This record gives sequence, structure tokens and C-alpha cells, in this order.
Amino acid sequence: MKKLVVLTGAGISAESGLAVFRGSNGLWGKYRVDDVATIEGWYRNPELVLQFYNERRSEALKTEPNYGHIGLVQLEKYFDVKVITQNVDELHERAGSKNVLHLHGRLMWVRSEKNESLRFKLPEDDCEIHIGDKASDGAQLRPDIVWFGEAVPMFESAIEWVEEADIFVIIGTSLNVYPAAGLLQYVKRGVPVYLIDPNPVNDPYGKVTTYINMVASEGVKQLIDELKLR
Ligand code: APR
Repeated sequence: MKKLVVLTGAGISAESGLAVFRGSNGLWGKYRVDDVATIEGWYRNPELVLQFYNERRSEALKTEPNYGHIGLVQLEKYFDVKVITQNVDELHERAGSKNVLHLHGRLMWVRSEKNESLRFKLPEDDCEIHIGDKASDGAQLRPDIVWFGEAVPMFESAIEWVEEADIFVIIGTSLNVYPAAGLLQYVKRGVPVYLIDPNPVNDPYGKVTTYINMVASEGVKQLIDELKLR
């Protein structure tokens, strides 16, 4: 089977009701990135950071996958589909995607602030953490999220997936954040690249061959129609 690799961002979860980061109504218009998505913000005011992720966690639990996520599962009938996501929600997994790589971590997971290998998934019915909640090493628990300025442990694996792609698809990301956006440079020459987004997106490496200017749920339907013919 041909390998279809997808890079997704917050836009694929927008129709499920989760806010994107940039643009009008984006999360970064309501919170300062430095306060809630950097290690410096964590050291300055950890309770604010914990509250930010507690709120996003309870919001994410109220959402359902939309056809953007579900259509990618349908494509598993025709292709070996691998999903690289910048999202920390688990809507791809809940839609049924089998191969999902989270570049920026996962909202439901927490870890020791001292040892990132001491991580575990929070139960849905008890999914808040606060100051004083400790990991097994006695250190404070923190979200298992990759903050700005922190290493992206899964990036090398993501590069391997991109280099294997016969078809590459980008859905719902402004391609503003590195190293995630830098994955495009690893798409092999001649590989068709589809980009699904209702708004214009700057293509940093000039790799996009087909723009589908639609929301994810409609764009993925169009993608399936186009790819079935390939
Ligand atoms: N369907 C598809 N795309 C959409 C939709 C929709 N319904 N609504 C919005 N979009 C598009 C926007 O046009 C935009 O291009 O989704 C993209 C969202 O861009 P961002 O808000 O920048 O989100 P993202 O690219 O995922 O951000 C990357 O930045 O803050 C960090 O860690 C955070 O993972 C995040 C990273």
C-alpha cells in the first residue's frame, strides 16, 4: 500500500469545538504564550499553567472527532496512513487512527517535572492536577506537553515518516511553528502535497501541489474523492 502521511494542526479540531491558537478568537489572543506555554512561565507561576491545561483538558473531553479526523480513518482502507499531529487532543485516536505521532505531547498525560520518563495518563473522571500533586519521584507533576523552547523528542521519528511518504497532506495548521513546519523540507521530490485550510497558508518550502481551500470536514471529503482516482 502507498504511504499517506498527514501533518495536522489545531484547525482539524476546530469543527469539534476546540479553539485554534492564532487568528481571531485564537487561544493566544486570550492567554500570553509566555505565561502558559514556556518553561519560564512554569517556573514563574506553575498554578496558572496547571489551570490553563486543566481547562483545556476538560474542554477536550467534551468534544467528538469531526469528519476531518474520521475521513483520515476511511483512507486507511486505501493507504498506509500515518498522522503526525501538533495537537495535544486525542481526537485522531478517538476517531480510530492507528498510527498517530504527537509532536507537542498529549493533554491527558502528565509527568514528573524532573524526569520526563515518569509519565502517566490521567483518568477522564479525575483529570486535574494542582500544586502539590507529585510524581513517583516526589517531584511536582506537570503537563506532558512540549512547551516553546523545549526539545521535541518525537521530531526524528516524524522525519522518518515524512521521508517515506508517497503522498503528503497538511490539514489545519498555519505552519508558523518550528520544528513542526520544517517537516515539509523532508518531503521527497515529486511527492504530491495537499493542503487543506479555509484560509491562505504560507508554504515555506514551496512544496504544496494542491490547495483545498475548505474546512477540514469538507476538505477531507474532497481529498478522498481525489485520492481514490490515484
Ligand atoms: N478546518 C481546517 N483548518 C482550519 C479550520 C477548519 N475548520 N479553522 C481554522 N483552520 C486553520 C487556520 O486557517 C490556520 O491555518 O487552522 C490553522 C490553525 O493555525 P494555528 O492556530 O497557528 O494552529 P497550529 O498551526 O496548530 O499551531 C501550531 O503552535 O502554539 C503552538 O503548540 C501549539 O501546536 C500548536 C502550534
